[in-house]
Amino acid sequence: MTERSPAVRKVLIVGTGAIAGAHAAAFQSPTVRNRATIVGAVDVDRSRVEAFCRDHGIARGFIDLDVALAELSPDLVHLCTPPNMHTDQSIAALTAGSWVLCEKPPCASLAELDQIQLTEQTTGRYCASVFQWRFGSGMQRLKHMMSSGALGKPLVAVCNTLWYRDEQYYAVPWRGKWATEIGGPTVGHGIHLMDSLLYLLGDWEEVTAQMATLDRPIEVEDVSTAMVRFRSGAMASIVNSVLCPRQETYLRIDYQNATVEARGLYEVSNSDWRWSAKPGVPGDPWDPPVTEVPASHATVVEALLGDMDAGRAPLTSGNETRRTIEFLAAMYKSAQTRQPVQAGSIDRSDPFYHAFSITPAALGNHYRSSGGN
Ligand SMILES: NC(=O)c1ccc[n+]([C@@H]2O[C@H](COP(=O)([O-])OP(=O)(O)OC[C@H]3O[C@@H](n4cnc5c(N)ncnc54)[C@H](O)[C@@H]3O)[C@@H](O)[C@H]2O)c1
Repeated sequence: MTERSPAVRKVLIVGTGAIAGAHAAAFQSPTVRNRATIVGAVDVDRSRVEAFCRDHGIARGFIDLDVALAELSPDLVHLCTPPNMHTDQSIAALTAGSWVLCEKPPCASLAELDQIQLTEQTTGRYCASVFQWRFGSGMQRLKHMMSSGALGKPLVAVCNTLWYRDEQYYAVPWRGKWATEIGGPTVGHGIHLMDSLLYLLGDWEEVTAQMATLDRPIEVEDVSTAMVRFRSGAMASIVNSVLCPRQETYLRIDYQNATVEARGLYEVSNSDWRWSAKPGVPGDPWDPPVTEVPASHATVVEALLGDMDAGRAPLTSGNETRRTIEFLAAMYKSAQTRQPVQAGSIDRSDPFYHAFSITPAALGNHYRSSGGN
């Protein structure tokens, strides 16, 4: 008996600005190109979507998502639009019967994430977040070594996203505003490495954060810092910044038996990972992966197509995404209330369940009426 080959998926790309090119390029990679075809693209800017379709050989351009969903019935919708649109567009695509791959941040609050996840349950389709850092071979190697027990317990971690974004970057109208970008480097830049930290170290218990807008003409923060305690007992420090002229992304975890570090910028390759065994340990148990699997959009798409074929939840959906979004909400709550925040404490009655940023007046009213602090 011959096995049925998996279906060739019809893909729709929504938002044809800067990052959409990485999504289109993913479908040219050898492991993806026979498994899916981009059948259409959508952008509210007609000339932009027309140019995108021309450049990438896409048959149909649209200026309205609902029309594209109705006419193309795509299997998979990639959302590359500004952050404030992600929730409504994810729900529209899921409801139309598509799976979704959504750029970060996937939503603007825990309340929005709950709406998306409710729609997943009612439609049987999934929405995956683009947290591409999880998928590289170095990260996967580390995850595997942690599960094998070779490293011992994680004890101390450093998670720094030290990037530089100038005023020209913030000249794009949706950036730098609470209503459209949702937050600063916490939700927009450091989200990648913090998601990786949470992927590796698992459930967090308590976070204390600080945020400020020091040097960019924007509403949202341009720097945030945090101290975190994990349920395992491990302690981590985090910096997310867009103010650092020498840019670097740096993750370091000290385990009982070794220090493991990755130093890079927007991607890390196998050679960017460094292992240092504790004194007296012979050999090199790190044994770096021979094959390079990049932490790229192509790797994310390949994994997602596999999930679609298997009908299983993607790695960056469900509780995995929820833990990261809850952590972001807790960082914003801690910074704005100047209090530590515990995992599980932001429930529906909490203003930070509904938004990352609360005006001081609304915050005062809430705590006065609830009698809490
Ligand atoms: N994963 C990554 O490494 C990565 C890197 C950069 C950006 N991003 C994320 O990708 C998203 C887009 O960022 P960008 O830099 O490409 O922005 P961009 O401004 O270059 O592109 C956004 C596009 O969306 C279009 N658009 C706006 N409203 C729309 C609507 N209702 N329907 C359809 N199209 C609409 C705009 O016209 C624009 O062409 C953001 O969420 C950003 O955080 C992710």
